[in-house]
Amino acid sequence: MKPIQVGLLGIGTVGSGVFNVLQRNQTEITRRAGRGIEIAMVADLDTERARTVVGEGVRVVADARAVIANPDIDIVIELIGGYGIARQLVMEAIEAGKHVVTANKALLAVHGTEIFAAAHRRGVMVAFEAAVAGGIPIIKALREGLTANRIEWIAGIINGTTNFILSEMRDKGLDFEAVLKEAQRLGYAEADPTFDIEGVDAAHKATIMSAIAFGIPVQFDKAHVEGITKLGAQDIRYAEQLGYRIKLLGIAKRRDSGVELRVHPCLVPARRLIANVEGAMNAVMVQGDAVGTTLYYGKGAGSEPTASAVIADLVDVTRLHTADAAHRVPHLAFQPDSLSDQPV
Ligand code: HSE
Repeated sequence: MKPIQVGLLGIGTVGSGVFNVLQRNQTEITRRAGRGIEIAMVADLDTERARTVVGEGVRVVADARAVIANPDIDIVIELIGGYGIARQLVMEAIEAGKHVVTANKALLAVHGTEIFAAAHRRGVMVAFEAAVAGGIPIIKALREGLTANRIEWIAGIINGTTNFILSEMRDKGLDFEAVLKEAQRLGYAEADPTFDIEGVDAAHKATIMSAIAFGIPVQFDKAHVEGITKLGAQDIRYAEQLGYRIKLLGIAKRRDSGVELRVHPCLVPARRLIANVEGAMNAVMVQGDAVGTTLYYGKGAGSEPTASAVIADLVDVTRLHTADAAHRVPHLAFQPDSLSDQPV
C-alpha cells in the first residue's frame, strides 16, 4: 500500500525531531501503523534551513497553503505555533479534508471548540498528544487508559522551562535570567518565554486536559493563571528549610459547582515523588475513582520527546484513516511474528 502522505508546516526544533525519528525508526513505525508514513512536503519560511534538515527527497516550499492545496496530502502536521496564522491554516486544512496533527496547545486551549467542531463536521481527525507534557502520553492515558474512571482531579508539572528554572535556581544558586536563557538555548522555552514564566503555557495544557478529563468545553479564559516571576532565590531557600519544594502546578479539580482550573506556584512536601521531578521533566498525577492516583513522568519538552508524541498521533491517524479494521485498534493489530528474526 502507498505510504500515507504527510505535509509538515514549520520545521523548527520539533519538526526536525519528527523527521529524524520517522527516518530512524521507520521499520518499527511502519509495522505499527500498518502502512508507511511519508513526509512528502514541508513548508517553512526558511526554505534553506528546511532543505538542510530534510535533504533532497522531500518537496520544500515557503507557502504553507501549497501543502494544504495538494490533493495527495492526507495529514497536515502543524508545528508553527501561536493563534495567528496557525489557526487559519489548521481551519483551512480541515476544510480541505485533511487530518491535522498539532503540538499547538495555545491554539487548542483558546480555539479548540471551533476547531474540533469543524473537524467533526468535515469528518477528519485533529490529534494533539504533543500539545500536553511533550513525550508523556497523557492524552492517551486520560482518553483511553482511564476511560472507565470518573476523574476527580489532575495536578501536574506541565511546563519544562519553569521547572528547569526552579530546579537550577535551587541546586546551583543561578539567577532567573541566566537559567531562562539556557532553557531557550536547549529549545524548551516558547518563542515568547513570557508564556512559560507567567504560567500561560501550563494553563493552556491544563485547559486541554480538563476538557478531556471532565468533558467540558476548552475554556482557557476561565483559568486562574500565576507564574514564577514573583519568586526569588530566598523563597526557594525558605521552602527548602521548611521541607518543601516550590513547583509550578497546573491543577484541574472537580467541584460541586463545576471544574476548578488553576496554575500557580505550590509548596510541595520534599518527600513527595512530584517534588523530586527536576529540570525540564514533567509529571502529571491523575486521580480516578476506580484506579486511585496514577502518575505519569517524562520529558515535557525538546525535539525528540515532542516528536515522539507527534509520531504517535501520526500512527493513530494512519490506522484510523486506513480502512482496515485489524489496524484500527492497536492491541488487536499486535503481530509479534515480525520480530521473529530478533534474538530473545
Ligand atoms: N515551553 C514548553 C515547556 C514546551 O517549557 O514545557 C513544551 O510544551
